[in-house]
Amino acid sequence: MSWFEALAPAKVNLGLEVLGRRPDGYHELATWMLAIDLADRVRARRVAQSGLRLRVLGPQRDADVPEDERNLAWRAARAVLERAEPGAGLELELEKHVPSGAGLGGASSDAAAALLAAEGALGIELGPGERRERLAALGSDCVFFAEAGPAGLARCTGRGERVEPVEGSPPDWWLVLVTPALRCPTAAVYSALRAPLCASGAASSLPSIVSRPAREVRGELFNSLEEAALRAVPELYAWKEVVSGSGARPVQLSGSGSSFYGLFDEREEAEGELHRIADALQRAGRVPRRLAIVRPAGGGARAVGEVG
Ligand code: C5P
Repeated sequence: MSWFEALAPAKVNLGLEVLGRRPDGYHELATWMLAIDLADRVRARRVAQSGLRLRVLGPQRDADVPEDERNLAWRAARAVLERAEPGAGLELELEKHVPSGAGLGGASSDAAAALLAAEGALGIELGPGERRERLAALGSDCVFFAEAGPAGLARCTGRGERVEPVEGSPPDWWLVLVTPALRCPTAAVYSALRAPLCASGAASSLPSIVSRPAREVRGELFNSLEEAALRAVPELYAWKEVVSGSGARPVQLSGSGSSFYGLFDEREEAEGELHRIADALQRAGRVPRRLAIVRPAGGGARAVGEVG
């Protein structure tokens, strides 16, 4: 049988406010998520041997990306396999390009793409309602990747799973994305949050973000999790010093970290910043896991179709 492939783009958070702690232990958020054109690839194919097997490969494969039920892509695919006839078998390949533990939503996007790949391979369609329900149960960021809309930009509230996509095309921005050589465990970052939590609602009121120039938007971004991430992973502070100290523009932490990004209107500006950051990291003897220019992707996880 041939492989069925789906694309799993990463995201960055454009501002993130933690509005309060909920009785279920999660935190109430207001954030904007923007899908970017750095993506994992998820492939699924029907096999004779019953059950589910996952293989992880690609340049960002690492020990933090498990090949069993701990992987959200595995769990998403299993949810589809459970709908197939008894004894059905599925093989899943996850090609990692998005660094893990980096605040880029890689695992969440892999889950959304794995649903689509498994649906394609098994000829089963869950439908948008069930997809949303399955993904929300897997993780707070997963729903965004299924419902990002054509702009690949949405306002996300609740614990992140309530997604309101923005109409129109993706913003015409350039991003410099730096992923330090360390990971920020999401749960540990949230645990390091200190009261009083910010409740200004500014992230939720950023007006029509999509049509605005990066130079305006970047001045208004604020991430409530940054202080907590620096406390939970103290080494992140040294990376921030080098990255933000070298550039001409402020950088933002994405989600719970560890990636930082800068937002630009022009490619040349972004390239200049990329070189300044690369030089500063080299002088400081720090090798990032990834340093590159990325662009808004337009859309979230999507089926590519049959390959190979
Ligand atoms: O939902 P997800 O599994 O991605 O969340 C990972 C951890 O991050 C949760 O177990 C929780 O500790 C924390 N979290 C939170 N509030 C959110 C999202 C995540 O406290 N809105």
